Formats: sequence, C-alpha cells, structure tokens
Amino acid sequence: MCGIVGYIGPRSAVPIIVESLRRLEYRGYDSAGVAVLDEGACKVVKSVGKINNLAELLDQEPLEVKIGIGHTRWATHGRPSTRNAHPHTGNSGKLAVVHNGIIENYVELRERLTAAGANFTSDTDTEVIAHLLEEKLTNGAGGDMLEALRLASREMHGAYAVAVVSESCPDRLHVVRKESPLVLGLGQGEVYIASDITAVLPYTKTVMVLEDGDVGVLTVDGVSITGLDGRAIDRKVLEVEWDVGAAEKGGYDHYMIKEIHEIPDAIRHTMRGRVTPEGLLNITELNLSADEIRDLKRIYIVACGTSYYAGVVGKYLFERLLRIPTEVDVASEFRYRDPVFEPNSLMIVISQSGETADTLAALREAQRHNVKVLAIVNVIGSSMYRDADAVFPTLAGPEICVASTKAYVTQLVCEYLLAFHFARLRGQMADAEVNRLVAEMLAVPAKVQQILAQEDDYKTLAKNFLESQDFFFLGRGLDAAVSLEGALKLKEISYIHAESYAAGELKHGPLALMWDDVPVFVTATQTDLYEKTVSNIKEVKARRADVLALVRESNVDIAQHVDWVIKVPDADNLVMPFLTIIPPYLLTYWLSFALDREIDQPRNLAKSVTVE
Ligand code: F6R
Repeated sequence: MCGIVGYIGPRSAVPIIVESLRRLEYRGYDSAGVAVLDEGACKVVKSVGKINNLAELLDQEPLEVKIGIGHTRWATHGRPSTRNAHPHTGNSGKLAVVHNGIIENYVELRERLTAAGANFTSDTDTEVIAHLLEEKLTNGAGGDMLEALRLASREMHGAYAVAVVSESCPDRLHVVRKESPLVLGLGQGEVYIASDITAVLPYTKTVMVLEDGDVGVLTVDGVSITGLDGRAIDRKVLEVEWDVGAAEKGGYDHYMIKEIHEIPDAIRHTMRGRVTPEGLLNITELNLSADEIRDLKRIYIVACGTSYYAGVVGKYLFERLLRIPTEVDVASEFRYRDPVFEPNSLMIVISQSGETADTLAALREAQRHNVKVLAIVNVIGSSMYRDADAVFPTLAGPEICVASTKAYVTQLVCEYLLAFHFARLRGQMADAEVNRLVAEMLAVPAKVQQILAQEDDYKTLAKNFLESQDFFFLGRGLDAAVSLEGALKLKEISYIHAESYAAGELKHGPLALMWDDVPVFVTATQTDLYEKTVSNIKEVKARRADVLALVRESNVDIAQHVDWVIKVPDADNLVMPFLTIIPPYLLTYWLSFALDREIDQPRNLAKSVTVE
C-alpha cells in the first residue's frame, strides 16, 4: 500500500525522507518520489522501481534542503510509471502532493478541473488533489493553504492521507487525513510525517496519530491540528515502545494475523469506488461492453491454490445469479485437459500476485482461442494485469505473509460485485435485489470485526488440537466451497494434514477415517442445507470423531450434537462466505502459533510461483 513520509526541521531532509521510505518498503510499492523546497523552489524527483533508483537520482544532483515529502506508490489508478509516481504537481509546479488512499470522485473532479484549464499529466486520482488545491488557493482560500486544504477536502470523496509542500508557505508542511492512516513524529524542533509508525521510529518514539477530518500544519515550532470546520483539536501525544520489526507488523507477532485483522478494511477498499456512498452498485471500470456481458454463454474460472478456491465460490455464485454454466479449473490442469472453448465465453483468472505461471499460461491459451480474459489481481502492473483484456483489481494492499488471507476475501468481493453487475445488465436481477445484496455486503466488515473481537476464544480452542495428526473439513453448498480454503490454510501453516469434503461425499469414502478423536470442522450456515449437514454431523459423531461446528449466531440447537461451537453473525446465505472463512483463519493462526510454526514463511512455499 502506498506510503507517505515527510520532514521539516534543522537537518538535511533528503536522507531522512529516503531512509523513511526504505522503512515503508515492507508495505510493497512499485515507484517512489520526493518533493522538496530548494531555496524556496519546489523540486520533484521520482522514479519507477526500487528506492535505490530514486536514491541514485538524488545522488546525481544532491539537494541540501530542510523540508520535503516523499512517497512509495502501490499502483491503483494507472500503471506503475514515473509519470504516475508521486509527488504530483498542478499547472504551476509550485506545490506538490503525496497521497495514500483513493479519491472516488476523481473522474468527475478531473473533468471539471480540465474544463477550467488544469493540465493533467498522469493517470492517477492523486493529481486531482494538486489541481484542486491550486484552484482553491486562488479561488476561495485567498492564498491560504490550510483553508485550501479544507475546501478541497469538502469536494473529495473517498479515503485519503495527503501531505503538501508549497512555495507559497516555505516554512511549513500541511497534511489532511480521512480514513487512511497518518502519523506525525515529534522531535526537538522537527516534525516527521509517515503513513505508519515504522518510518519515524529511528528518529523519535514520540508520535501523534491523526484522526479522520484532521488538518495539520507542521513547522519547526511544532504541530497545530484543526478540524475541517476550523476548530482547534488537541490530539494525544504517545510514547511508542515498539521496535522496528514489531512496528512493521503493526504490533502483531506475524504478518498473517496482521493481514487477517486488515480484512475489514480490505473489503471496504475493494468496494469503494464500485459502490456509491449511497450504497448503489456502480461499476464503470470494466473493459467489457454491455453487449459482451449480455451475450455470455460460458464462464471459465482459472486459478491456483487459494485463488482457485475463491473461484469455487465464484462458480456457485455465477451459476446461481447468472444462470451461465461456469467451469472452475486448477490452472496447472487447464491447458493439459485440452479445453473446449466456445464462442461468447469469458475466462476469469484470479491471482493475488498476477504472476503465477500456470494461470498466466491459461490466460494466453484462452486469448489464442479468441476468448476474452478478465483478471482479478491484487498487484497492479503485474503480468496478468497487463495482459488480460479486462481487469478488476482487488484492493487488498500488499500481502506479505506467504499464505493468502485478505487477498482471498477481496477476490470474493470482486466476484460478488461482478456477479451483481452482470446479473443486472442481463436483466436477471432487479435493482432492488442488487441493492439489498450490496447492503448485505456493506455490513460485512463490521461483522468480520465482531468475529475478530473474539480472537481469544480461538487461542483457547487451538489448545485442543496440539496433538492432532489429521483434520477434516465438511460443509454443503457455499459452506463446502469455503471449507476448501479453510483446509488449505490449516495444512500449509500448521503442517497438520487437513482435507475438505462436501459433506454429502462422506459416505462415499471419508467416513472410513472417522474414528476416536479425529477433529472434524463442520460449517453449517447455509439455512437451506442445514438439516442435511446436521445428519452428517450425527454420522461423524456416531464414529466418535470430535466435531467443531461453525454456525450462525441465531443457531440454538447445534450444541447438543457437537463438542465445540463457533458462531458467526447472521447474514444472507449468499454473503456467508465472507464470515465463515474468518474462524478457520483464526484457528489456523493460533494453532500454528502454539505449535511454533514458521507462520509467515511456511516451509517449501513461496509467495509468487512463477514457474510451472
Ligand atoms: C495459499 C496461497 C497459494 C496461492 C497460489 C496462487 O495460502 O497463497 O495457494 O493462492 O499460489 O497464487 P496467486 O494468487 O498469486 O496466483
């Protein structure tokens, strides 16, 4: 995810900014840049790729300055390139901004500002902020940057943390925050800006965390914070105890658990810009025409591992809502089964990295047969992002733990939004039904937070399985689809053998393995299939296996049949997968923790599998 830094004080700003950017490298990025005031003149230096590329450019023409801002960019709007890298400037080049977040109404703002004479030079949403500030400075704010920021904030929808350096106020930096993190590090006669505490820790442990609607003015004399209405705000100053390693993990022991806790925000980000603030589905970014979507006769979903399991959920969804036959394939098998490609088909490839060799090969195979490919990817600018005919990115932010968690959940979000969009275009869902389901999805992040708040229960629960050699997962319908991912996560991190079966398959083989104390994780939240799943639970219990049941909050009768019960909030059957995946993730984490496994880098596995 993008990283923001900044410095004002008596020391040389450029080395501090570059070092702070390096501290944010762990967040992932594809380009970097700085903007400083050099004898009062705004200068911007930026480059694609690693921070070393930027550092080399800065070494070629050293800048001895005391004020500046910097940025690492993780592409969301526009490919990774020097022109899209931050900082961005307006027409005059006299002010520069860095931004973390998404300006949802940037298209509208860009059109309005262009008509008023703004000359845009990048594809980013961020550049509108620079032009908007220039407009407000001369029109409404009377040259006052603080007021310009407030006026601009009133027009910007979305999430943003912004830092500004400007020739018009050479002795100060300005910041504003809404929904994207921003912290200030407070030194002696100096102030640091950063997206997270990690970047300021080498310099100071005294920090101030800004909150939504805070606008800050930073000078060598200190910090002044006001609200968007101009009222003064007294934000708490904290002393941080973390070391740098802990800070990168947000205070958690592992990236995996940090990323599980990021799921609510990852869902929000992935929906943002695709659902209006009024809760209406509004997908305008797809490079597929309405006719192409209406004429669709077949969908092939192709992916590997966790992304493949997201595809299994997609199959249920697309067939149910669109009545389009949907095949879901493991990418490494797809090519070799000599697939039949039909006219009016669409391939959807799903990949966190966008680089998985087998999935890329499937994409190319489809294109060779003139089948269009839509990519659901997390890494903007990756091979799949570039080569697919249409892209619908997940906005999970970089995922550092080898095992996918937040990326999986956002892959589901993308599939759901696509299914609603397609169903509406094809006349298969009325607006009211789309709105109802979108509202269900908007309620998901808070429900995930409710499950996460019970994390301690999973620490206790995990202790029951320290000696387990095998684990079985069972479910029906969407519960079966999610169980596949639960079993994969458990086996790859805890190294306990885990398998997932559709509960109806029990009698066709796996029942032979149900005996004393074998743990069986049964998900039973699909109301139409509940009775049948309870019958399966009884079959398993009759063989003296131990059953852990995952059910809805409203369920009152399961406890009598099982050994342990986990509950998740109620929701529509269709959106249950967003909730039912969280307990297996938490159980996996806390069981693996208790077993002292290498959680973030499980043995033999890699984050990006670029070979067949
Ligand atoms: C499991 C996991 C892997 C990946 C798989 C595909 O936790 O992360 O199974 O899902 O290697 O990777 P991507 O999604 O990058 O194509």
